[in-house]
Amino acid sequence: MAAKLISTGIRHTTLPENYVRPLSNRPCLSDVSPLKDFPIIDLSSTDRSRLVQQIHQACSRFGFFQVINHRVSKDTIDGMVSVANEFFSMSMEEKMKLYSDDPTKTTRLSTSFNVKKEEVNNWRDYLRLHCYPISKYVHEWPSNPPSFKEVVSRYSTDVRELGFTIEELISESLGLEKDHMRKVLGEQGQHMAVNYYPPCPEPELTYGLPAHTDPNALTILLQDATVCGLQILIDGQWFAVNPHPDAFVINIGDQFEALSNGIYKSVWHRAVTNTEKPRLSVASFLCPADCAVISPAKPLWEAEEDEAKPIYRDYTYAEYYKKFWSRNLDQEHCLENFLND
Ligand code: OGA
Ligand code: NI
Repeated sequence: MAAKLISTGIRHTTLPENYVRPLSNRPCLSDVSPLKDFPIIDLSSTDRSRLVQQIHQACSRFGFFQVINHRVSKDTIDGMVSVANEFFSMSMEEKMKLYSDDPTKTTRLSTSFNVKKEEVNNWRDYLRLHCYPISKYVHEWPSNPPSFKEVVSRYSTDVRELGFTIEELISESLGLEKDHMRKVLGEQGQHMAVNYYPPCPEPELTYGLPAHTDPNALTILLQDATVCGLQILIDGQWFAVNPHPDAFVINIGDQFEALSNGIYKSVWHRAVTNTEKPRLSVASFLCPADCAVISPAKPLWEAEEDEAKPIYRDYTYAEYYKKFWSRNLDQEHCLENFLND
């Protein structure tokens, strides 16, 4: 097997050659500062119009925001974090039972991003799961640690509800019917990436995840409460999104950029590493049904003139997803392949 996991439990003292980025593409960590004014949206607010306005501002300016009072309980979150940490601290032998570098597999443990395609590897191991419908996939999920299935079922069910709440706010914030996005997206799929970034001997030379946009509709990220690593690109500059202990980080994926006709942004982001501590993040991705036709909402582009047309052409999510995985992660924005001419 070519590429191997890096979460070996043994601290790496040198960065293997295959992780070293060329000089022109390194994180330049000293140029990155924390993002000021990063929106924190309180979902317990009863002032709906203010909430909707905050969502509009956050999604058009940053494509990213944090939510607090999101109704996913602390117990559920703590349980998810513990079981994920336990998972990655299992023996290599136990973990390798789930290893695969075939991106079409619905449950797999892997490393980097797409080891079969990429030239330089990334300092990340990850467990990828399909989470909806749970009954269809749960038998594939890891049976170790023993509580994994129960804990992750509860977490992913609650996060799905949170996602739907946000999708309603997004619809309203674009002046559309509350259920517009949910209707367009059909029976949404849900995937999870449990990302584990071991301490890295040379964080300046490599990435945990290089710059990318998420191909799905909406991402709900739980980041390690104490270890920084997520960065986003705003006006050509990288900023750190440092963890807030009670918040999820939400970001607009490519599909909401298309559905909003480009009003909302699927923003470039990346994960960097550090020498000190392992970092864990749990990304939950809500995805359109494969057959969902992604078509920019008409009220967002129709104009007086007859020639008005949306920025993006109609396509199915299945078509998009295939294109996404056929590329390298840090190529052009995948949506550029779906522009109207
Ligand atoms: C992702 C992602 C960021 C992080 O999994 O798509 O962007 O902080 N993760 O791990
Ligand atoms: Ni991402």
